[in-house]
Amino acid sequence: MDYNAFFVSALDQLRHERRYRVFADLERIAGRFPHAYWHAPEGKREVVIWCSNDYLGMAQHPQVIGAMVDVAARMGTGAGGTRNIAGTNHPLVELERELADLHGKEAALVFTSGYVSNQTGIPTIAKLLPNCLILSDALNHNSMIEGVRQSGCDKVIWRHNDLGHLEELLKAADPDRPKIILFESLYSMDGDVAPLHAICDLADKYNAMTYVDEVHAVGMYGPRGGGVTERDKAAHRINVIEGTLAKAFGCLGGYIAGSAAMIDAVRSYAPGFIFTTALPPAICAAATAAIRHLKTSQWERDRHQDRAARVKAVLTAAGLPVMPSDTHIVPVLVADPEKVKIATDMLLEDHGIYIQPINYPTVPRGLERLRITPSPYHDDVLIDRLAEALVDVWERLQLPKNRQALAAE
Ligand SMILES: Cc1ncc(COP(=O)(O)O)c(C=O)c1O
Repeated sequence: MDYNAFFVSALDQLRHERRYRVFADLERIAGRFPHAYWHAPEGKREVVIWCSNDYLGMAQHPQVIGAMVDVAARMGTGAGGTRNIAGTNHPLVELERELADLHGKEAALVFTSGYVSNQTGIPTIAKLLPNCLILSDALNHNSMIEGVRQSGCDKVIWRHNDLGHLEELLKAADPDRPKIILFESLYSMDGDVAPLHAICDLADKYNAMTYVDEVHAVGMYGPRGGGVTERDKAAHRINVIEGTLAKAFGCLGGYIAGSAAMIDAVRSYAPGFIFTTALPPAICAAATAAIRHLKTSQWERDRHQDRAARVKAVLTAAGLPVMPSDTHIVPVLVADPEKVKIATDMLLEDHGIYIQPINYPTVPRGLERLRITPSPYHDDVLIDRLAEALVDVWERLQLPKNRQALAAE
């Protein structure tokens, strides 16, 4: 049998659907974010990154780099094993304390990524509850969907952020059955936010647990960077807060925070926690440095919001179809799988601007887009250049503009 032919044919299928992914070969420049080198086929070129989830530029923060270098020099690189064997190290214990404090919870547990936190945390919690029913928002991230799948529990999907539908489903369920409502605080492709208190009201009314993914909000929202749950003063009403150390905190890893008993149970039962090597101490120390910094420094959060507002205003004024978003995410609609790829190639090659195309299955077919993520370090000049580059690409590809611009033409 020609095994390789199956792989070739699977790749052909992706190419046929215009969603074969190509990664840009980049080299970030510490101290000069969002500038980076692109290892282009014809040589190394400087470009500007406009799609990083290093939302606050913390991956280049001197305190964060300093903590990583110092601890690597003192304690070495790898953790040396799973937590059960030899992987629990002091910086990891400190990190978990820092995270519990960040969310006002009794305890926190760190995993090797945010993905793993959901993928192993959700099924572990759900399986410990007898005959659990999971109520999952329709737009939940793939890591949550995989977690639900692995739980083997019954699940029902509620229409995205639709409280009426969620209540209908809660009402229809057996009142004595354990239930978990699963949702994100900030949805990263559209930039919209969940109605946290209203969901918690329903959870109280129907005696359900709440599990929220704060991956795209921690560090960036709330007076100490505790996320939308902190900003909206809802953290105490949520049973499980899940987050990442890889986006606004600029490092790697994920976590859940909640009651001491729940965290201890996940520590004791979750395969994705038990059977994998722990995060290296240097990464833990760097993440702790980032979290501590953002607990007291408001500058990054204020400037981040200011930059996002400016990008939205400048692109909208330029007639580009900026999709409405309540947060720091700036989606610009292309609605064509082929053109979204061509547009990003043109931006990179002709304008030195790096934006990765977003297509199915990350977003529904027909809603292909550029997902622009301004950081505190994107200044006015970079924003104006971005607008000019996008207008040029929009004109050359004859892409649809926003409604106001169309009306004015
Ligand atoms: C909503 C959401 N949850 C979880 C994750 C996974 O987090 P990590 O990148 O730390 O694995 C992502 C990744 O982008 C995400 O968007």
